Amino acid sequence: EIYDVNPCNSNPYMLSFHLRSASNEILGLKIPSEPILNANTVCLTLPGLTRRQLEVCMRNPDVTASAIQGIQIGIHECQNQFRDHRWNCSSLETRNKIPYESVVFSRGFRESAFAYAIAAAGVVHAVSNACSMGKLKACGCDEKRRGDEEAFQNKLRSLQKQAMNHRKGMVHGVMEHIPADAPGPQDSWEWGGCSPDVEYGEKFSREFLDSRETYRDIHARMRLHNNRVGRQVVMDNMKRKCKCHGTSGSCQLKTCWQVTPDFRAVGSVLKQRFRVATLIKAHNRNTGQLEQSHAPHRRRASAHELIYFEKSPDFCERDSFSDSAGTQGRICNKTSPGMDNCESLCCGRGHNILRQTRSERCNCKFHWCCYVVCEECRITEWVSVCK
Ligand SMILES: *[C@@H]1O[C@H](CO)[C@@H](O)[C@H](O)[C@H]1NC(C)=O
Ligand SMILES: *[C@@H]1O[C@H](CO)[C@@H](O)[C@H](O)[C@H]1NC(C)=O
Repeated sequence: EIYDVNPCNSNPYMLSFHLRSASNEILGLKIPSEPILNANTVCLTLPGLTRRQLEVCMRNPDVTASAIQGIQIGIHECQNQFRDHRWNCSSLETRNKIPYESVVFSRGFRESAFAYAIAAAGVVHAVSNACSMGKLKACGCDEKRRGDEEAFQNKLRSLQKQAMNHRKGMVHGVMEHIPADAPGPQDSWEWGGCSPDVEYGEKFSREFLDSRETYRDIHARMRLHNNRVGRQVVMDNMKRKCKCHGTSGSCQLKTCWQVTPDFRAVGSVLKQRFRVATLIKAHNRNTGQLEQSHAPHRRRASAHELIYFEKSPDFCERDSFSDSAGTQGRICNKTSPGMDNCESLCCGRGHNILRQTRSERCNCKFHWCCYVVCEECRITEWVSVCK
């Protein structure tokens, strides 16, 4: 089943693009062909952009489309990380516009800090990957991690020649001394293939998201800081993948390229940072530095810490002012030691036990560009539901 919207409830930022693009049918599935990403289809149909973001978008509509997809991926992962919490990130779903006008984004909660960081990380992730897939005009493979293709081919040819001579030697009964695993030390490798241009992704995330902040108040400083933390988590967790070349399963030549971390891992790192986030107070309006409020020795918040300045509400009752949907109707778990324990999730109001059949979108996959494919899972079970 194909959804052209965000898997967890509808979120059609990209819907307007689809309407303008033809669909082609594959196996009876309606998969939209690659939409045309230009200033008209992307920037002018997307509400919620600030003036400066609109300028960035007009210059790079294709990168912006990819950035928006990154924000979606970030919010999707936020919902995964917070599925057991009273505030479960579902309020960041916004119809047809970028989600920064959601209440949580306008507050200084710990949850707000997480939301900024994961959205900024999503942009780095999506844009860098789109670069390496060759989807964007402005970027491609990372030049600093690009191998010398010609030199590589030469080495490969010379290895093949050696191997051929070796075999000939054997046939004629003349052993040459080539040890089976020689030459090439096993742990030597060189860059080859295409590494995503994560510096470009980082730069675009900065340009596109940080440009929302026009003031230099504590809100803005908190947002800029947490955006940076999110981006840094992607940069710090890049992985290397390698491939062996050479004769018959040997690893005489090894080429490696970088890949972005699995976004689930980025979500987990940020969730960990959420737990130990730092409460800050605005001191020194002049220097604009962020300082911890309870630290014995005041210091600047480090580039790894998420920071917030407003104590979160308990999110027990519905309250639109703090972006709380309340927990009435939420499914809880009587035996869980975690946040979804009925006692805790239902805030002591108690729970009912119901037999429920529901269908969930599951195994969702993001596709370039701008749509999501999910399966539908039907689940019938007894559930505990908060009163
Ligand atoms: C998240 O919370 C909202 C509001 O309480 C609820 O409607 C939704 O079903 C919850 N989502 C998940 C995945 O539990
Ligand atoms: C409830 O939590 C327990 C303990 O973590 C777990 O083993 C069980 O699978 C959970 N039940 C449901 C319905 O999620």
